[in-house]
Amino acid sequence: MRNIVAFAGSNSKKSINKQLVTYAASLTENSNINILDLNDFELPVFGVDLENKNGFPDNVHKFLEHIKSADGIMISLAEHNGAYSAAFKNLFDWMSRVEGKTFFGKPMLLMATSPGARGGASVLAIAKDRFPRHDANIVETFSLPLFDENFSEGKITNEELNDELVGKVKTFSKSL
Ligand SMILES: Cc1cc2nc3c(=O)[nH]c(=O)nc-3n(C[C@H](O)[C@H](O)[C@H](O)COP(=O)(O)O)c2cc1C
Repeated sequence: MRNIVAFAGSNSKKSINKQLVTYAASLTENSNINILDLNDFELPVFGVDLENKNGFPDNVHKFLEHIKSADGIMISLAEHNGAYSAAFKNLFDWMSRVEGKTFFGKPMLLMATSPGARGGASVLAIAKDRFPRHDANIVETFSLPLFDENFSEGKITNEELNDELVGKVKTFSKSL
């Protein structure tokens, strides 16, 4: 069994990205899925003065341990004003201070969704450019546009988009 860690780049309790990443994880076979929620890893706003004064919060180490112990990573990023949500960026900043190779070379399925037609394309492009500098091995990317039209009851309802995701999850799974 492969260990897959999956999470949304969001701290919304009803996160559509958490719904998408949970669905994508359910498409894998012979895997242990560990779905993380950023709300379980609360962190103060990153600042160098805080880091110098108190060091690293335990939750940063805990989150990094989850990534380190996984065989693969699934992420779906929320897009806020064309970029990462503050909650994800804060976690990423803290983690990058502990470990520059934040993603430890693990295979990654990188996704985004939003209620809009661009499906989080801007944050996806930012992460696609940036994550490899933190040792991410991005195997596939997937964007789900118009979440409310294309997703219902825990599944993608648009057949074409669903087939695309199923294919990408297969490629990701083979890479583990
Ligand atoms: C502060 C803020 C900024 C947003 N900016 C964007 C944006 O730039 N592009 C976009 O597609 N959606 C934007 N949205 C809508 C989010 O995509 C939507 O809230 C989505 O549900 C966020 O994902 P989540 O539910 O996983 O947190 C924004 C929402 C908020 C609260």
